[in-house]
Amino acid sequence: MRDNYLVFGQPVIAEAEIEEVAMSMRAAWLGTGPKVAAFEKLIAEYKNVKYSVAVNSCTAGLHLSCLALGLGPGDEVIVPAMTFCATINAVIHAGATPILVDVDADTFNINAEDVREKISPRTKAILLVHFAGRPCRMDSLKALAHEYGLRIIEDCAHAIEAEYHDQKTGAIGDCGVLSFYSTKTVVTGEGGMILTNDADIAARAKILALHGMSQDAWKRFSDDGYKHYEVVEVGFKYNMMDLQAAIGIHQIGRVEQSWRRRSEIWEQYNRAFADLPARRPAPICSKSRHALHLYTLLIDEKAPVTRDQFITGLHRRGIGTGVHYRAIPMHPAYKQRFGWEPADYPNANAIGEATVSLPLSAGLFDEDVEDVIRAVREVLAGGPEGLA
Ligand SMILES: Cc1ncc(COP(=O)(O)O)c(C=O)c1O
Repeated sequence: MRDNYLVFGQPVIAEAEIEEVAMSMRAAWLGTGPKVAAFEKLIAEYKNVKYSVAVNSCTAGLHLSCLALGLGPGDEVIVPAMTFCATINAVIHAGATPILVDVDADTFNINAEDVREKISPRTKAILLVHFAGRPCRMDSLKALAHEYGLRIIEDCAHAIEAEYHDQKTGAIGDCGVLSFYSTKTVVTGEGGMILTNDADIAARAKILALHGMSQDAWKRFSDDGYKHYEVVEVGFKYNMMDLQAAIGIHQIGRVEQSWRRRSEIWEQYNRAFADLPARRPAPICSKSRHALHLYTLLIDEKAPVTRDQFITGLHRRGIGTGVHYRAIPMHPAYKQRFGWEPADYPNANAIGEATVSLPLSAGLFDEDVEDVIRAVREVLAGGPEGLA
């Protein structure tokens, strides 16, 4: 038993970002400012896109992406049945209708064949998720979108480091959105970034993110002197603060180092769990790069314990886990509104009932990884007795 609880998804916060936040505090420039602009530039360089618009969450970024693409009432947007609720909510808040498609049982991602069956004359876009950091098969999805004249938004909340056939995720569709929420691989506490190569999408998203004020209104109180602005659209308060960007600009500098550490842990888990009655993540396609955000085990009927017993067993051993996610049709708000039934999305439902995510933070020490492995083996190999 561990002395301290291993919290799931704990970020690595270094002295550099602590000092940078302190400098922002001392300079008393807390809100949107030069650090946000610097962070946008660093992310655009890393993701190899022309434009990046910082926002206060991926959820906000997804909402603005839908609006910037002109999606609204009467439009249908195809979304995966296995994702976080924010993906679906963004479409609904834009006034469009989400149309669920089941995911692949192995990759947890949507594929073009299943999407094709959901296309109607009202379909305007596909909002896809690179689940756990594994890129979707973008060639076939892009070909399908081209065939039907659909737009593509990539929900890259899990996929900062992911690449599909040498293309960076988020830069393959019309736009993509990153998350810097505290459990993600680059964090700002709360935060997100819209990526696009389309100047119009970027400009509209930027204006909508700050009340609908004309470009660069954030500079109105800077040492350049006061500047008037105009409200050119009815927008939102979705801008990122310099305090958040102060963390992000150092986090992005360590993004590859962190990925390599997670890669080591991923391989250790893969080796350690090979003989257990639990399904490990599907092998990674050699032509793509997985962001390695979530290491999931599927604890299904072949295991001697239920998924929830497994979670309890690890918790009793001082190991925190996550569930990403229960399938979208399980949630009452959507059931009531759209009449979605879990049985109609069998793969998403089966994943949602069996999945559990293990700690995979780059900040794990070797002893932490050993503790996780030991706990998983005890609980799974020992059956119900292992729960003690
Ligand atoms: C797939 C997916 N999309 C969107 C989000 C929302 O991200 P944020 O918390 O930055 O709004 C999350 C958050 O976990 C997510 O997992």
